[in-house]
Amino acid sequence: MASEPDVSVGPWSDGERARRYDSAGNGRFYRALLTRLVSGAGPFGQGRGLDLGCGSGFATEGLLQAFPAVAWQGVDVSAPMLARAAHKSTLAPVSLCHAAAEALPYAAGLFDVVVSNFSWHWFRPAAGAEVLRVLRPGGWFLVSAPLRRFSGAAGNRWLARRLHASRRRFRRFASQGLRIEDMNSLLPGDLCTHRLESVVIEEQFSDAQTLLATLESRGSLHAIFGTDGLEGCADGTTGSLAFEWHVGLLHMQVKP
Ligand SMILES: C[S@@+](CC[C@H](N)C(=O)[O-])C[C@H]1O[C@@H](n2cnc3c(N)ncnc32)[C@H](O)[C@@H]1O
Repeated sequence: MASEPDVSVGPWSDGERARRYDSAGNGRFYRALLTRLVSGAGPFGQGRGLDLGCGSGFATEGLLQAFPAVAWQGVDVSAPMLARAAHKSTLAPVSLCHAAAEALPYAAGLFDVVVSNFSWHWFRPAAGAEVLRVLRPGGWFLVSAPLRRFSGAAGNRWLARRLHASRRRFRRFASQGLRIEDMNSLLPGDLCTHRLESVVIEEQFSDAQTLLATLESRGSLHAIFGTDGLEGCADGTTGSLAFEWHVGLLHMQVKP
C-alpha cells in the first residue's frame, strides 16, 4: 500500500473505530443507500469501475452484485477500513487502493464509472477535479450524499435538541449535508445530468442511546452534524425513535 497521503484521515485512522463501523446494521444501511443509488444506472458493460471512499466495502459488495462484468477497484484514505475490506472473501475480485480522493493514483480517462456512496461529504473540493480526470469521455459519475434538510421525525428532533444544548462544541465548518442544488457542481466540468433527486431513508432505533451510538459509529456525528460527542445522551427520551436521512442521488455523464 502507498504511504499516507497528505489529506486528513479524520476519525478513520483508528482500527477500533473501523471495527465498530463494520457492523451488520451499518452494512444494511449503506447497502440500502447503494441500491437506491444504482437503480436505473448502467449497464456499464465490461469497463472499469471505481468505488471512491469504499470504507470496509459494503457498497463495493453491492456494486459487484449489480454490475458483475465491471472490474471494480476500491479506494479509501483509511488503512484500517481497507484492512476490513481486504478480509472479506466477497471482495476478493476487487483491488483495493490506499489513496485520497483528492490525489488519485490513476491515469487520466481510466474509468468508465466512478461511484461514491455516502462518502463525498468527507472529501475536499479537489476530489471533483480528480474524478473528472480519471473518467473517460462518456464515463459515468454516481454519487449519494446527505442533504441539508430538516426532518420532523422523532429521532431527528431529539438529535437537534441535543446539538442545540451542546452548542459550545458545535463545529460550524462541518458539512451539515449538501444542498441538492449544489450537487450538480461537484465535478468542475461540462457534464450531462441524467438523474438528480432526493430520497428519504428511514431507520428505527430502539432508544436514543442506540441512535447516538450508530451515528457515532458511521462518523456522521462528526462529518454531518458537527460534533464529536454528546453528553446526557438518553435525556428526556424513552422508547423507540424513527430517524430520517434525506439523501441526494446523482447520475452524471462526461460528454463523449
Ligand atoms: C461512510 S464511510 C464509507 C461508506 C462506503 N462508501 C459504503 O457505502 O459502504 C466514509 C469513508 O470515506 C473515507 N474517506 C474520508 N475521507 C476520504 C478521502 N479524502 N479520500 C478517500 N476516502 C476518504 C473514510 O475513510 C471512510 O472509509
